[in-house]
Amino acid sequence: MNKSVRKAVIAGNWKMNKTRPEAKELISSLVPLVKDAGCEVVICVPFTNLETAVALTEGTNIKVGAQNCHFEKSGAFTGEVSADMLMELGVEYVVLGHSERRQYFGETDETVNKRTRAALSAGLKPIVCVGELLWERECGITEEVIARQIKLDFFGISKDELLSCIIAYEPVWAIGTGKTATAEQAEEVCAFIRATLAKLYDSETAEAVTVQYGGSMNAANAAELLSKPDVDGGLIGGASLKANDFSVIVGAATNG
Ligand code: PGA
Repeated sequence: MNKSVRKAVIAGNWKMNKTRPEAKELISSLVPLVKDAGCEVVICVPFTNLETAVALTEGTNIKVGAQNCHFEKSGAFTGEVSADMLMELGVEYVVLGHSERRQYFGETDETVNKRTRAALSAGLKPIVCVGELLWERECGITEEVIARQIKLDFFGISKDELLSCIIAYEPVWAIGTGKTATAEQAEEVCAFIRATLAKLYDSETAEAVTVQYGGSMNAANAAELLSKPDVDGGLIGGASLKANDFSVIVGAATNG
Protein backbone atom coordinates (compact mmCIF):
# COMPACT_ATOMS: atom_id res chain seq x y z
CA MET A 1 0.00 0.00 0.00
CA ASN A 2 2.84 2.34 -0.77
CA LYS A 3 2.27 4.96 -3.41
CA SER A 4 5.99 5.58 -3.76
CA VAL A 5 6.48 2.18 -5.42
CA ARG A 6 4.53 3.48 -8.40
CA LYS A 7 5.50 5.89 -11.10
CA ALA A 8 3.50 9.14 -10.99
CA VAL A 9 2.58 10.03 -14.56
CA ILE A 10 1.01 13.26 -15.78
CA ALA A 11 -0.10 12.93 -19.39
CA GLY A 12 -1.58 15.67 -21.52
CA ASN A 13 -4.23 14.59 -23.99
CA TRP A 14 -4.30 17.33 -26.59
CA LYS A 15 -7.20 15.68 -28.47
CA MET A 16 -7.82 17.30 -31.89
CA ASN A 17 -6.05 20.53 -31.07
CA LYS A 18 -2.95 22.42 -32.22
CA THR A 19 -1.59 22.94 -35.69
CA ARG A 20 2.11 22.32 -36.14
CA PRO A 21 3.21 25.91 -35.41
CA GLU A 22 0.94 25.96 -32.35
CA ALA A 23 2.35 22.64 -31.18
CA LYS A 24 5.89 23.96 -31.54
CA GLU A 25 5.02 26.98 -29.45
CA LEU A 26 3.36 24.96 -26.70
CA ILE A 27 6.14 22.40 -26.46
CA SER A 28 8.83 25.08 -26.43
CA SER A 29 7.09 26.82 -23.53
CA LEU A 30 6.58 23.54 -21.69
CA VAL A 31 10.13 22.18 -21.85
CA PRO A 32 11.71 24.64 -19.36
CA LEU A 33 8.65 24.66 -17.11
CA VAL A 34 8.67 20.91 -16.43
CA LYS A 35 12.38 20.16 -16.66
CA ASP A 36 12.68 19.42 -12.94
CA ALA A 37 9.53 17.32 -12.72
CA GLY A 38 9.55 14.56 -10.15
CA CYS A 39 7.05 12.58 -12.20
CA GLU A 40 6.88 11.21 -15.74
CA VAL A 41 5.59 13.89 -18.13
CA VAL A 42 3.86 12.79 -21.33
CA ILE A 43 2.17 14.73 -24.12
CA CYS A 44 -0.29 12.81 -26.29
CA VAL A 45 -0.59 14.85 -29.45
CA PRO A 46 -2.49 14.44 -32.73
CA PHE A 47 -0.81 12.15 -35.29
CA THR A 48 0.20 15.17 -37.38
CA ASN A 49 2.25 16.56 -34.49
CA LEU A 50 4.02 13.38 -33.42
CA GLU A 51 7.16 13.91 -35.44
CA THR A 52 7.45 17.53 -34.30
CA ALA A 53 6.85 16.55 -30.68
CA VAL A 54 9.46 13.78 -30.78
CA ALA A 55 12.02 16.16 -32.32
CA LEU A 56 11.33 19.01 -29.90
CA THR A 57 11.40 16.83 -26.79
CA GLU A 58 14.60 14.99 -27.65
CA GLY A 59 17.03 15.25 -24.76
CA THR A 60 14.28 16.53 -22.42
CA ASN A 61 12.24 14.69 -19.78
CA ILE A 62 9.02 14.93 -21.83
CA LYS A 63 7.76 11.72 -23.43
CA VAL A 64 5.49 11.61 -26.45
CA GLY A 65 2.28 9.65 -26.87
CA ALA A 66 -0.31 9.12 -29.60
CA GLN A 67 -4.06 9.09 -29.03
CA ASN A 68 -4.91 5.79 -30.70
CA CYS A 69 -3.47 2.97 -32.80
CA HIS A 70 -4.93 0.16 -34.86
CA PHE A 71 -4.66 -3.51 -33.90
CA GLU A 72 -3.44 -4.87 -37.22
CA LYS A 73 0.15 -4.43 -38.33
CA SER A 74 -0.77 -3.14 -41.78
CA GLY A 75 -3.43 -3.52 -44.44
CA ALA A 76 -6.64 -2.09 -45.82
CA PHE A 77 -7.69 0.08 -42.86
CA THR A 78 -8.14 3.52 -44.34
CA GLY A 79 -7.45 6.31 -41.89
CA GLU A 80 -5.80 4.09 -39.28
CA VAL A 81 -2.24 4.08 -37.94
CA SER A 82 -0.44 0.99 -36.65
CA ALA A 83 1.53 0.59 -33.44
CA ASP A 84 4.71 -0.10 -35.43
CA MET A 85 4.27 3.17 -37.31
CA LEU A 86 4.16 4.99 -33.99
CA MET A 87 7.19 3.14 -32.63
CA GLU A 88 9.12 4.05 -35.73
CA LEU A 89 8.53 7.74 -35.04
CA GLY A 90 9.93 7.46 -31.51
CA VAL A 91 6.56 7.50 -29.77
CA GLU A 92 6.51 5.84 -26.33
CA TYR A 93 2.89 5.96 -25.12
CA VAL A 94 -0.54 5.56 -26.69
CA VAL A 95 -3.96 6.45 -25.27
CA LEU A 96 -6.46 3.65 -25.93
CA GLY A 97 -10.18 3.35 -25.31
CA HIS A 98 -10.72 7.00 -24.54
CA SER A 99 -14.41 7.63 -23.93
CA GLU A 100 -14.54 9.93 -26.97
CA ARG A 101 -13.35 7.00 -29.10
CA ARG A 102 -15.92 4.74 -27.47
CA GLN A 103 -18.70 7.33 -27.78
CA TYR A 104 -18.12 8.78 -31.25
CA PHE A 105 -16.13 6.14 -33.11
CA GLY A 106 -17.70 2.86 -32.05
CA GLU A 107 -14.75 1.67 -29.96
CA THR A 108 -15.70 -1.35 -27.86
CA ASP A 109 -13.95 -3.24 -25.08
CA GLU A 110 -13.10 -5.89 -27.66
CA THR A 111 -11.31 -3.42 -29.95
CA VAL A 112 -9.68 -1.72 -26.96
CA ASN A 113 -8.34 -5.13 -25.94
CA LYS A 114 -7.04 -5.82 -29.45
CA ARG A 115 -5.44 -2.39 -29.69
CA THR A 116 -3.85 -2.79 -26.25
CA ARG A 117 -2.34 -6.14 -27.25
CA ALA A 118 -1.04 -4.70 -30.52
CA ALA A 119 0.45 -1.68 -28.78
CA LEU A 120 2.17 -3.89 -26.21
CA SER A 121 3.63 -6.24 -28.80
CA ALA A 122 5.03 -3.28 -30.71
CA GLY A 123 6.66 -2.01 -27.49
CA LEU A 124 4.37 0.95 -26.80
CA LYS A 125 3.07 1.77 -23.32
CA PRO A 126 -0.73 1.90 -23.44
CA ILE A 127 -2.73 4.36 -21.35
CA VAL A 128 -6.04 2.48 -21.21
CA CYS A 129 -9.06 4.60 -20.31
CA VAL A 130 -12.07 3.33 -18.38
CA GLY A 131 -14.99 5.18 -16.85
CA GLU A 132 -18.70 5.16 -16.23
CA LEU A 133 -21.46 7.31 -17.76
CA LEU A 134 -23.42 9.61 -15.48
CA TRP A 135 -26.48 7.38 -15.90
CA GLU A 136 -24.48 4.35 -14.81
CA ARG A 137 -23.22 6.17 -11.71
CA GLU A 138 -26.74 7.29 -10.87
CA CYS A 139 -27.96 3.71 -11.20
CA GLY A 140 -25.28 2.61 -8.74
CA ILE A 141 -23.40 0.36 -11.16
CA THR A 142 -20.08 2.25 -11.38
CA GLU A 143 -18.10 -0.66 -9.95
CA GLU A 144 -19.75 -3.21 -12.26
CA VAL A 145 -19.02 -1.04 -15.28
CA ILE A 146 -15.38 -0.49 -14.30
CA ALA A 147 -14.78 -4.15 -13.43
CA ARG A 148 -16.24 -5.24 -16.76
CA GLN A 149 -14.08 -2.78 -18.70
CA ILE A 150 -10.92 -3.84 -16.83
CA LYS A 151 -11.66 -7.55 -17.34
CA LEU A 152 -12.37 -7.15 -21.04
CA ASP A 153 -9.77 -4.53 -21.92
CA PHE A 154 -6.99 -6.55 -20.26
CA PHE A 155 -8.16 -10.01 -21.30
CA GLY A 156 -5.18 -12.18 -22.22
CA ILE A 157 -2.65 -9.57 -21.12
CA SER A 158 0.14 -10.99 -18.98
CA LYS A 159 1.36 -9.68 -15.67
CA ASP A 160 4.54 -8.33 -17.23
CA GLU A 161 2.58 -6.65 -19.98
CA LEU A 162 0.20 -5.09 -17.46
CA LEU A 163 3.20 -3.48 -15.79
CA SER A 164 3.87 -1.55 -19.02
CA CYS A 165 0.31 -0.19 -18.99
CA ILE A 166 -1.23 2.79 -17.27
CA ILE A 167 -4.92 2.79 -16.43
CA ALA A 168 -6.76 6.11 -16.59
CA TYR A 169 -10.00 6.36 -14.65
CA GLU A 170 -12.04 8.94 -16.50
CA PRO A 171 -15.67 9.26 -15.43
CA VAL A 172 -17.37 10.21 -18.69
CA TRP A 173 -19.51 12.84 -16.97
CA ALA A 174 -16.37 14.69 -15.84
CA ILE A 175 -14.64 14.92 -19.21
CA GLY A 176 -14.56 18.41 -20.68
CA THR A 177 -17.54 19.37 -18.55
CA GLY A 178 -15.78 21.27 -15.78
CA LYS A 179 -17.39 18.77 -13.37
CA THR A 180 -14.50 17.10 -11.63
CA ALA A 181 -15.05 14.02 -9.55
CA THR A 182 -14.39 14.82 -5.92
CA ALA A 183 -11.04 13.58 -4.68
CA GLU A 184 -12.97 10.97 -2.66
CA GLN A 185 -14.87 9.73 -5.73
CA ALA A 186 -11.63 9.55 -7.72
CA GLU A 187 -9.87 7.69 -4.92
CA GLU A 188 -12.76 5.26 -4.46
CA VAL A 189 -12.74 4.16 -8.10
CA CYS A 190 -8.93 4.19 -8.52
CA ALA A 191 -8.70 1.95 -5.43
CA PHE A 192 -11.44 -0.26 -6.87
CA ILE A 193 -9.46 -0.59 -10.10
CA ARG A 194 -6.44 -1.69 -8.08
CA ALA A 195 -8.54 -4.21 -6.14
CA THR A 196 -9.90 -5.58 -9.42
CA LEU A 197 -6.35 -5.96 -10.77
CA ALA A 198 -5.34 -7.71 -7.55
CA LYS A 199 -8.10 -10.29 -8.15
CA LEU A 200 -7.22 -10.76 -11.82
CA TYR A 201 -3.44 -10.81 -11.29
CA ASP A 202 -2.08 -10.52 -7.74
CA SER A 203 -1.76 -7.77 -5.17
CA GLU A 204 1.92 -7.12 -5.75
CA THR A 205 1.28 -6.51 -9.46
CA ALA A 206 -1.78 -4.37 -8.72
CA GLU A 207 0.27 -2.26 -6.30
CA ALA A 208 2.81 -1.53 -9.03
CA VAL A 209 0.37 -0.29 -11.70
CA THR A 210 -0.01 3.45 -12.22
CA VAL A 211 -3.67 4.50 -12.07
CA GLN A 212 -4.46 8.01 -13.23
CA TYR A 213 -7.54 10.15 -12.76
CA GLY A 214 -8.80 12.20 -15.70
CA GLY A 215 -11.76 14.53 -16.15
CA SER A 216 -11.53 18.29 -15.73
CA MET A 217 -8.33 18.06 -13.73
CA ASN A 218 -6.77 21.50 -13.64
CA ALA A 219 -4.19 23.67 -11.92
CA ALA A 220 -6.58 24.42 -9.05
CA ASN A 221 -7.83 20.93 -8.21
CA ALA A 222 -4.85 18.73 -9.15
CA ALA A 223 -3.05 18.83 -5.81
CA GLU A 224 -6.07 17.51 -3.90
CA LEU A 225 -6.82 14.76 -6.41
CA LEU A 226 -3.18 13.70 -6.61
CA SER A 227 -2.80 13.59 -2.84
CA LYS A 228 -5.06 10.52 -2.71
CA PRO A 229 -3.27 7.23 -2.09
CA ASP A 230 -4.49 5.43 -5.22
CA VAL A 231 -4.41 8.38 -7.64
CA ASP A 232 -0.96 8.13 -9.21
CA GLY A 233 -1.25 10.78 -11.85
CA GLY A 234 -3.57 12.44 -14.29
CA LEU A 235 -4.74 12.39 -17.88
CA ILE A 236 -5.32 16.02 -18.66
CA GLY A 237 -7.35 17.35 -21.57
CA GLY A 238 -8.20 21.06 -21.64
CA ALA A 239 -5.59 22.13 -19.09
CA SER A 240 -2.80 20.41 -21.06
CA LEU A 241 -3.21 22.99 -23.83
CA LYS A 242 -1.82 25.75 -21.60
CA ALA A 243 1.84 25.36 -20.67
CA ASN A 244 1.50 27.13 -17.32
CA ASP A 245 -1.55 25.19 -16.17
CA PHE A 246 -0.05 21.88 -17.26
CA SER A 247 3.20 22.61 -15.46
CA VAL A 248 1.34 23.40 -12.23
CA ILE A 249 -0.32 19.97 -12.46
CA VAL A 250 3.07 18.36 -13.09
CA GLY A 251 4.36 20.16 -9.98
CA ALA A 252 1.44 18.88 -7.94
CA ALA A 253 2.29 15.30 -8.91
CA THR A 254 5.87 15.87 -7.92
CA ASN A 255 4.81 16.93 -4.46
CA GLY A 256 1.76 14.68 -4.12
P1 PGA B 1 -10.54 17.15 -19.72
O1 PGA B 1 -10.25 15.84 -20.57
O2 PGA B 1 -9.36 17.34 -18.80
O3 PGA B 1 -10.64 18.26 -20.74
O4 PGA B 1 -11.80 16.93 -18.97
C1 PGA B 1 -9.66 14.72 -19.99
C2 PGA B 1 -9.55 13.62 -21.01
O5 PGA B 1 -10.47 13.47 -21.81
O6 PGA B 1 -8.56 12.87 -21.04
